[in-house]
Amino acid sequence: MTEHSAYQPGLANVPAAESSVCYLDGSIGKLQYRGYPIEVLSDKSTFEEVAYLLLFGQLPQRAQLESFDAELRRARPIKFPLIDMMKVLPETGHPMAALSSVVAAMSMFYPGDHVADPKFRRECAVRLVANFPTVVAAWQRIRNGDEPIRARADLGHAANFLYMLSGEEPEPLVARTMDVAMILHAEHQMNASTFSARVTGSSLADPFAVAAAAVGTLSGPLHGGANEEVLKMLRTIPDKQPHLVRAWAEDRLARKEKISGFGHREYKVKDPRATILQKLSQSVFEKHGATPIYDIATELERQMAELTGNKGIYPNVDFYSGILYEKMGIPTDLFTPIFAIARISGWLAHLLEQLQNNRIFRPSQVWTGKADREFVAIDRR
Ligand SMILES: CC(C)(COP(=O)(O)OP(=O)(O)OC[C@H]1O[C@@H](n2cnc3c(N)ncnc32)[C@H](O)[C@@H]1OP(=O)(O)O)[C@@H](O)C(=O)NCCC(=O)NCCS
Repeated sequence: MTEHSAYQPGLANVPAAESSVCYLDGSIGKLQYRGYPIEVLSDKSTFEEVAYLLLFGQLPQRAQLESFDAELRRARPIKFPLIDMMKVLPETGHPMAALSSVVAAMSMFYPGDHVADPKFRRECAVRLVANFPTVVAAWQRIRNGDEPIRARADLGHAANFLYMLSGEEPEPLVARTMDVAMILHAEHQMNASTFSARVTGSSLADPFAVAAAAVGTLSGPLHGGANEEVLKMLRTIPDKQPHLVRAWAEDRLARKEKISGFGHREYKVKDPRATILQKLSQSVFEKHGATPIYDIATELERQMAELTGNKGIYPNVDFYSGILYEKMGIPTDLFTPIFAIARISGWLAHLLEQLQNNRIFRPSQVWTGKADREFVAIDRR
């Protein structure tokens, strides 16, 4: 029986796996995928190349990347019955629920022998990375009464996603910004959805079931939903009135309310992904016009540094992503699905790693119930 002293709520600081996918040192804001700093990958790489790196452990040679990219482009379209299925879902449902329904159903359309078969594993990985954007974009169209837009094989992964949402080819800066946002969200070590993916994968469930489990976990407000909350919160501060921000923050902190987009279990300095996203946002605003909510956000960051910096509470990745996506014309409830479109590559990297040396997850528990109770007949209770 497990001792009480061994129990850690939320498994905080309990290693759940040995992993070489993502290195994170939150005390100094260091984040690396497969040993490559996030700053370098977001500057020099593309989402497709980063997905390859995460899945297969090495940066691809040119021919390997071209072949992987071609596989992704070929796999973008989804089957018509999956589109038909989306048409019968209620348009008021959250896009994360639509995504998890379609991904779970994909198991039925692409049955494979067994995850032990490396060919099946690779095909599933390519299909999932390629199809997440197609499903999210198709749902956005269908819920508004429009027909889904067919994927364009001549566009990169991020640009094609934006194209499938609106029918317009994004200009290069916007396409690159989405590409980098996807790189930044592609992987983040042993968070709740990744753990969920590894647990489901450890039963040798197929990769679609694994992805559906991870999407479900990401959908919760304590995990992927925070970027939506940031925008809702910033809208409660009057626009163009940065001098009100300090009083607003002090009041909220005095009431012991959390400020969305700040703080992180791992980071005690500013999340490096927030720094990169903020810089990108500035270039988008310079080209496409400023957004008043960004001025409120930067003022809030300044005030929070004075108010909570000593506790190590700084902006996390969610603080600037919502402002950026809104400027791109993306509806708020698609922010978390966009997170999933990127993170599917990290989930699959962990699944492949888990399967290399698998043992089914079966933790223990601390028993807090009663034992050996007498069964009392129903009319005597
Ligand atoms: C991310 C988060 C859940 C991390 O939680 P955690 O590591 O368990 O940290 P705790 O909740 O224990 O907070 C530690 C202290 O910092 C404070 N704190 C943490 N995040 C805060 C925030 N966003 N605003 C105000 N105070 C915050 C807590 O009130 C607590 O203060 P106390 O010691 O005086 O009680 C938390 O920072 C949070 O809720 N942030 C807002 C939601 C968010 O942006 N989530 C996305 C994460 S990527």
